[in-house]
Amino acid sequence: MKPRILVLYYTQSGQLRDILNSITSDIRDKADIDFVPLTPVVPYTLPWKASKFFDTMPETVQHIPIAMNPLPESIKAQHYDLVIFGHQTWFLNPSLPISSFLQSEDAQILKGKPVITVNGCRNMWLHSQEKLKEYFLKIGANLVGNIVLTDTNPNIISVLTVIRWSFKGKKEASGLLPAAGVQDNDIRRASRFGMPIFRHLAENKLGSLHKELLLMGAIHLKPGLIILERRGVTNFRKWAKYIREKGGPGAPERQGRVTFFKRLLIVAIFILTPISSLTAFIQLQLQRRSLLNDVEYFKGLDYTEGKF
Ligand SMILES: Cc1cc2nc3c(=O)[nH]c(=O)nc-3n(C[C@H](O)[C@H](O)[C@H](O)COP(=O)(O)O)c2cc1C
Repeated sequence: MKPRILVLYYTQSGQLRDILNSITSDIRDKADIDFVPLTPVVPYTLPWKASKFFDTMPETVQHIPIAMNPLPESIKAQHYDLVIFGHQTWFLNPSLPISSFLQSEDAQILKGKPVITVNGCRNMWLHSQEKLKEYFLKIGANLVGNIVLTDTNPNIISVLTVIRWSFKGKKEASGLLPAAGVQDNDIRRASRFGMPIFRHLAENKLGSLHKELLLMGAIHLKPGLIILERRGVTNFRKWAKYIREKGGPGAPERQGRVTFFKRLLIVAIFILTPISSLTAFIQLQLQRRSLLNDVEYFKGLDYTEGKF
């Protein structure tokens, strides 16, 4: 009998679905694969209205769930040998549809199952993955692999293109800027992960899968990004609390603070990022050994409390 794989995912633009299509492209005839999108009751539209985009930060950071459509009963009744869980990072956390699903009753579908996480994001995903590990521990899911596809352009370029994509809906290259998001070639090359996943599943050796995925380049991580992400997480937590003091999603009373956050984030990205990168570089020289340990940790699947 063919093994049965459930591919659960959320995607706003379709990018994550493209990545998952590629990863599974070589094993479609070898396994029975069900693709099931996780969909919010009120979808997030692309392009975003800037006000909506920034207003989504506090609840994303504090993991305050939105309403999600339930999984089909036929899927819940099915047995699966493996789950591939496609997610993305929003404001250094799992996207709100993903954290909402993971807090819902339907997340029990992951209980006792081996799960491979696949993230398609800009380039900052560490805290988001730590949160996923926490959810999986609570649910009783067994993380057996992690694949992360990022935009490999320099940080500032990927910020500019993600802004163009988010607010104008323009993913393709324009002017001097390249296309936004994960490079097409990297999405195509993700097909190389399919056969090892299938082999480890068929041979009942999922425990050794992640090691092979890492050897194949499933995760690239620059130590400097750990420093920048730690700073970002601390700041987003403060801002989320500050904005929520004035009300919930869309509350007119909090819009002043949301706008303040938006302006400061833009200043931080374009003015403070070069300074921040320089201080991060110095910190990197001083803490190289401990950061290299962190790189190993974040590439792995284990969970240790307090990494952020
Ligand atoms: C509201 C929002 C916040 C985002 N924040 C981050 C982030 O903190 N780190 C990151 O690497 N990418 C971030 N991204 C990029 C997403 O992770 C993702 O790559 C992009 O939205 C495409 O995903 P899709 O498959 O859902 O369309 C953000 C995107 C959105 C829409």
